Amino acid sequence: MRYVLFTAAAGAVVAAAVYAVTVSGRAPVSAQDFVNLQQGDTIQMGFRRAHANGFCISGEFQASGELAAYSSAKALQPGSYPFIGRMSIAGNNPTAPDLRAPVRSLALTILPDTADQWRTAMNTPPVMAVATPEKFYQQLLAIQSNTVPQFFADHPETAHFLEWRSHYQPSQSYATERYHSINAFYLVDRQGKRQAVRWAALPLTDDAGVIADEEAPDALQQEFFNRLQQGPVRFDVQFTLATANDDPADATIPWPETNPQLSAGTIVIEQASVQQEGACNALNFDPLVLPAGFAPSADPILRARAAAYAESHRRRAREVLMQQFAGGANE
Ligand code: HEM
Repeated sequence: MRYVLFTAAAGAVVAAAVYAVTVSGRAPVSAQDFVNLQQGDTIQMGFRRAHANGFCISGEFQASGELAAYSSAKALQPGSYPFIGRMSIAGNNPTAPDLRAPVRSLALTILPDTADQWRTAMNTPPVMAVATPEKFYQQLLAIQSNTVPQFFADHPETAHFLEWRSHYQPSQSYATERYHSINAFYLVDRQGKRQAVRWAALPLTDDAGVIADEEAPDALQQEFFNRLQQGPVRFDVQFTLATANDDPADATIPWPETNPQLSAGTIVIEQASVQQEGACNALNFDPLVLPAGFAPSADPILRARAAAYAESHRRRAREVLMQQFAGGANE
């Protein structure tokens, strides 16, 4: 069994996550196994092993305070807080064509450089296809061996994901997508009372955008950089509260639209830069870097994510360092 430590904001070790799972009688799957599979045969030195193609963003989160009664987190009290973020497409290739990726993403760290920081990495699907790291690993294997239809047929819990996918139309812009936390978390108030939630970033523009060159690997990045020259890009951060009927540990099941929904505030994106030059590059958008006032749900995918992101970050940070040494030696 392998052990991976993960840390909270400000670097405090909050838990020893024992993350080694048995895949239907085969050898345990560790974070290293996940990242080996995700990076594939061609290592892209210095890049993320997943969501490698992306760019940095920054701006401010204007918190409404509507969630303040549910959580002591500073980011949810009324006010304006800086954030560093990243927009990306899924996949391990930093030059993969933007418009061919099935999943787009928005990652944020609100109040960076403080013990109050809240990190979140959101994707366009509202649900996972499968509920456990073991099955997600099998799904990645199925993608690599071109057996995805059989995988879906063998896993009826993929029905909600497939239903979403059947009507999802990728838009012409990162600015007009909906990004979901997918996994559930708890908000914790000052008395320690917990409320299970999911959240999503919902676009506040209906300007569809113009893609200058559909074949360009960075077509979406170009569109976004051009769009920002006309002014900030905004998203509403909407929280959905679980009811007693919802299972926070199962990310395959959508919660009913009739559940209470509250707006935490507005993400105002003011700047963007290529990732090699941006503050987001060195960040690991680990979904378990949570401030006081947030807590993880029992969803096992969350622990697997934290461990895999740390392993990916460890590899790419080492490569960046080695490249710097190699560059220095040549000067
Ligand atoms: C067991 C399931 C998952 C595994 C093993 C996994 C693995 C990874 C890895 C290794 C990275 C690169 C991390 C880095 O180097 O910084 C990554 C990035 C990312 N993942 Fe996941 N992931 C999983 C599930 C999810 C889910 C459910 C979401 C969405 C809610 C998600 C959203 C993202 C995003 C947005 C990024 C890019 C963050 C950035 O811009 O740096 N992942 N993932």
